Amino acid sequence: MTNHKCTLWPSGEILELNDQETLLTQLKKAGKKIKSSCGGCATCSDCAIIVKSGELNLTAQTFEELRLLGNVFHITKERLSCQTRILGDVTLDISAHEKPTKEKVSKPSVPKSTTVRLKKREEVERTAIESKEKNQEKPSDTWYRHWEKEDEDPNKPKRLGGNKRVKPFNFNDSE
Ligand code: FES
Repeated sequence: MTNHKCTLWPSGEILELNDQETLLTQLKKAGKKIKSSCGGCATCSDCAIIVKSGELNLTAQTFEELRLLGNVFHITKERLSCQTRILGDVTLDISAHEKPTKEKVSKPSVPKSTTVRLKKREEVERTAIESKEKNQEKPSDTWYRHWEKEDEDPNKPKRLGGNKRVKPFNFNDSE
């Protein structure tokens, strides 16, 4: 096990980290707050850290990391700390994890001047009766339970599908 120097940006704090455990584990042990929802299974990408320098001193991206972050490290400089170990000196930016989370925005309270209109009992009952009647109204007559309707002309042959066999060719008719 070899220890390497890990400098935190922008504070300049230096940590001694080994090359056996992941950055997530070691930074947490050092008392740093790193967000992680999946517990290091490479499914949440919350533990992403930004590599300021020394990217060649990090282990190669795992399949799981590439699947989650894509092949854009050269643009974002982001690595999953749960999938990365250090092999040399690096400078990391974990300031995104130290930002306080947004406090829940409480709903604005109803101003006191707002008046609440109470419905009278008769009004409530009338509305209930109206909606009940409306629900009982049949929809358009053409499609409402059309399969139960009787045919207007009982003598009209029903057009049923199937049972249509090809008639054999009669040679006698052709002469
Ligand atoms: S902890 Fe979830 S991806 Fe790293």
